[in-house]
Amino acid sequence: MLVPSPWRADFPAIAALQRQDQTYLDNAATTQKPQALLDALAHYYANGAANVHRAQHLPGAHATQAFEDSRSKVGQWLNAGDSGQIVFTHGATSALNLLAYGLEHHFSPGDEILISALEHHANLLPWQQLAQRRGLKLQVLPLDPDGLIDINAASRLIGPRTRLLAVSQLSNVLGAWQPLTPLLAMAKAQGALTVIDGAQGVVHGRHDVQALGCDFYVFSSHKLYGPDGVGVLFGRHQALKDLRHWQFGGEMVQDADYQHASFRPAPLGFEAGTPPIAGVIGLGATLDYLAGLDQHALSEHEAALHAYLLQGLQARNGIRLLGSPQVALVSFVVDGVHNADLAHLLTEQGIAVRAGHHCAMPLMKSLGLAGAIRVSLALYNDSEDLERFFEALDQALELLR
Ligand SMILES: Cc1ncc(COP(=O)(O)O)c(C=O)c1O
Repeated sequence: MLVPSPWRADFPAIAALQRQDQTYLDNAATTQKPQALLDALAHYYANGAANVHRAQHLPGAHATQAFEDSRSKVGQWLNAGDSGQIVFTHGATSALNLLAYGLEHHFSPGDEILISALEHHANLLPWQQLAQRRGLKLQVLPLDPDGLIDINAASRLIGPRTRLLAVSQLSNVLGAWQPLTPLLAMAKAQGALTVIDGAQGVVHGRHDVQALGCDFYVFSSHKLYGPDGVGVLFGRHQALKDLRHWQFGGEMVQDADYQHASFRPAPLGFEAGTPPIAGVIGLGATLDYLAGLDQHALSEHEAALHAYLLQGLQARNGIRLLGSPQVALVSFVVDGVHNADLAHLLTEQGIAVRAGHHCAMPLMKSLGLAGAIRVSLALYNDSEDLERFFEALDQALELLR
């Protein structure tokens, strides 16, 4: 079966990597960029950079317009309704830290924060540290054998002390969509705030934050084919009003004297200092590019490629998959083979995959694993990429076993 990608030529780095004999299959870590993004960055820098929201001059007005246009595009991408609910950060990690500091006053000692057993460190450590600062209890929702958050256990653990639920939409290790609808309903019934880590989920399909009904949704531009250094925090108006300011500096202030200051509301009140202007404009151009693709063809391509990867791995002896991956990626271990040795031999053959704990150490420990290999896919990958991976895998396993 052949699975070609009609969008491959839109990403110049793929051809460049191929000239270096590299097959890039580490897309859950970061993605290659479309020409549309490179053009937008070159256009911005070649036509006059300027700071946003402060200058009266023409370059400043142009930059501010393009920056705010990107905010609208992100709002549309997420169906946020009003793009005033979109805050730009420096990544998903900084958005989650913003929340863990900005919501600190919301908690009293003994209150509970719920996360799940599969969280990336970015959606674990900010809450763990907040719990330590404020004397809170961090509860961890367990997983079922398929790698989904266990709904029955959740119904027992989500209770009147639950003040916040923060869970991932799509696991970066297990590749499984999490049961957000029942989880959010349970949390809301207890009056808890809800935070969705969309860092992986946002890359696959379109998601509607109004339909999801979460209070906050975060993601990183660089995993969604956009530039790095840019993150997005969506927050419902009411939830954003609850946030305290946490970083202070230029452009987030309403009025200041030496001893006191008052601050702007979201979004600008949470974008202290010069934001990543080119990156935000680039993200807007990337979303324009993505919005122009046939979404149905895209989902079919992703599904076909994922099935190809799954079948190829399942056809080989001694390979154990982690969970029941549904989309985008597969993590696996090989009986009797250390993941670092296998990763080394794959690297030597020009296959770029990820090995190790995938920034989810507690999950790996709970699975009794030191690490795993993860192959993760993007819209520009094709079955030839996977054939090269399988060939390299067979060679490596022949040497190692
Ligand atoms: C599920 C998940 N959450 C959060 C992050 C953190 O993203 P960033 O490093 O871009 O802030 C990642 C990155 O791998 C992730 O996979």
